[in-house]
Amino acid sequence: MLTNLSILIFSVLFSYLLFLWITIKKREDRHSDRNVKDVKLFYNQTTDKFLAVYGEIIQAFRTNDVEKYLHYTLKNMRAVDGMKLLDAGCGIAGPASYFAKKLPNSSIDACSVSEVQIEKAMKQVKDLNLENQISARVGDYHLLNEIYPLESYDRVYFLESYGHSNDKRKLLHGVWDVLKPGGMVYIKDLFQREVENDWEQYYIDKICEDINEAYKYHIGSLYETLSILRKKGYIIHYIKIPEVAEEDFEHLSISNDFQNLFNIGKIDSWEDYVFPIDFFEILAEKPKFSNEIERHLYFMNKS
Ligand SMILES: C[S@@+](CC[C@H](N)C(=O)[O-])C[C@H]1O[C@@H](n2cnc3c(N)ncnc32)[C@H](O)[C@@H]1O
Repeated sequence: MLTNLSILIFSVLFSYLLFLWITIKKREDRHSDRNVKDVKLFYNQTTDKFLAVYGEIIQAFRTNDVEKYLHYTLKNMRAVDGMKLLDAGCGIAGPASYFAKKLPNSSIDACSVSEVQIEKAMKQVKDLNLENQISARVGDYHLLNEIYPLESYDRVYFLESYGHSNDKRKLLHGVWDVLKPGGMVYIKDLFQREVENDWEQYYIDKICEDINEAYKYHIGSLYETLSILRKKGYIIHYIKIPEVAEEDFEHLSISNDFQNLFNIGKIDSWEDYVFPIDFFEILAEKPKFSNEIERHLYFMNKS
């Protein structure tokens, strides 16, 4: 009798907890789906404005001669000819087109959440005769492991696109699934600054919130990103600030022009403006060896 009652109580409790978990999960999925839809709408509406100011490379941190920055990027993601690359958040395939020309035996799969961008990307790829190397498609990069073949890329890269994600754990776990063992993820993005002074930090947090709102961003925390990567088992090869010569640096003036022209994220007063972010590059590898058995050899197995 007592056993039957215990089983009943256990079953009811279990069903209730299951119900609760499914409800929370659904709400989370709806939330993240809404975020992705906001980003899609944002770029469908603003891509022409970005192109008018930024040209084909939609990145704030860059050099005056933007090709110099792309050259630097290629070197730092350690991509060599013959590799299979995945551009997650490709814009209108400006960077992918440059990389494809430099690596003629490589192929690049590129995705953007915006249909408007992919239409332009496909046209550009066709005009440049790069159709045999670049394949661009509309897709949410949180679903890389559903839309692309597993364990097949040497590099997955995010060029100022990573910060749009509001579920960075899901994102980096999906990247893991599509990387070959020994493949690497490269992220170049802005991360929230941190300082000792509480007031300054308050302004930093506030400005980051404004940027997130204006650009549909979720400016990353560097530590959260590193923690996700390490917990998953990635080997972090480096994390560093982008290094460009001062005379080559574009000084973020393109972003200021953009804000002023289109009133998106416009800074009303530069007086007491606190710089809110730092740019970082991160390169991390999915190890070739078994994480559990040979972890102590991680430094020897690096590609
Ligand atoms: C600042 S732009 C950078 C574009 C490109 N990497 C470049 O350098 O020109 C950000 C890009 O991230 C893409 N993006 C943001 N969220 C995305 C998502 N969930 N799935 C796929 N792409 C996404 C946007 O569509 C856009 O192409």
